[in-house]
Amino acid sequence: MKFFLDTANIAEIEEGVSWGCVDGVTTNPTLISKELTGNTDFKKHVRKILSLVNGPVSLEVTATSAKEMVEEGKRLKKLGDNVVVKIPATVDGLKALKVLRELKIDTNATLVFSVNQALMVSKAGANYVSPFVGRLDDISEDGMSLVEDIREVYDNFGLETKIIVASIRHPVHVKDAALIGADIATMPFDVFRKLMNHPKTDEGLKRFLDDWHKIDKSKLMF
Ligand code: E4P
Repeated sequence: MKFFLDTANIAEIEEGVSWGCVDGVTTNPTLISKELTGNTDFKKHVRKILSLVNGPVSLEVTATSAKEMVEEGKRLKKLGDNVVVKIPATVDGLKALKVLRELKIDTNATLVFSVNQALMVSKAGANYVSPFVGRLDDISEDGMSLVEDIREVYDNFGLETKIIVASIRHPVHVKDAALIGADIATMPFDVFRKLMNHPKTDEGLKRFLDDWHKIDKSKLMF
């Protein structure tokens, strides 16, 4: 299973990459807007992210018509080879996915909330599909059962679109995504950090070191 960071923050990406567990990054207009304060240059910021990540980086279009999404997608793709163009799951989005597939530009269909949307974007040629689990949980629906259903339907028909579990809110979402067999989980840095937390690890390490410091070091041979 691959782990992506869902952030446009350079420090978070640098830190995550240094842990050796980051396979890619996803962004969206909200995440980008948080980082572009004052005089920040969008292209420079994005190029920095692309250079840090040895894997796909999703950049979302802000156009809403198919024609403009394709043009924006082409411009985004010029920023780097590892750019994946993120397209919203609308009818115009489907048309844009089809054209971008013909242009051999990788795409990630975003804002997916139903199995039927996941089927449609896959048929239109999306390389990745992003079901938003947290936002479904927020409205008392079961986000993870959507992922389960998409996995089953894609497997039924041998559809190759990779499932990115998105809108992840906590480590249990990550574990459940892995058990279901989703290809990728994309998560905020805060959730990524929590994946390694365990009080028994902290307690055990403290006890080992406390015991170690009790001994007379002069008796050690090294
Ligand atoms: C996915 O690619 C999106 O950027 C993201 O997961 C949205 O998450 P949110 O619901 O926490 O905004």
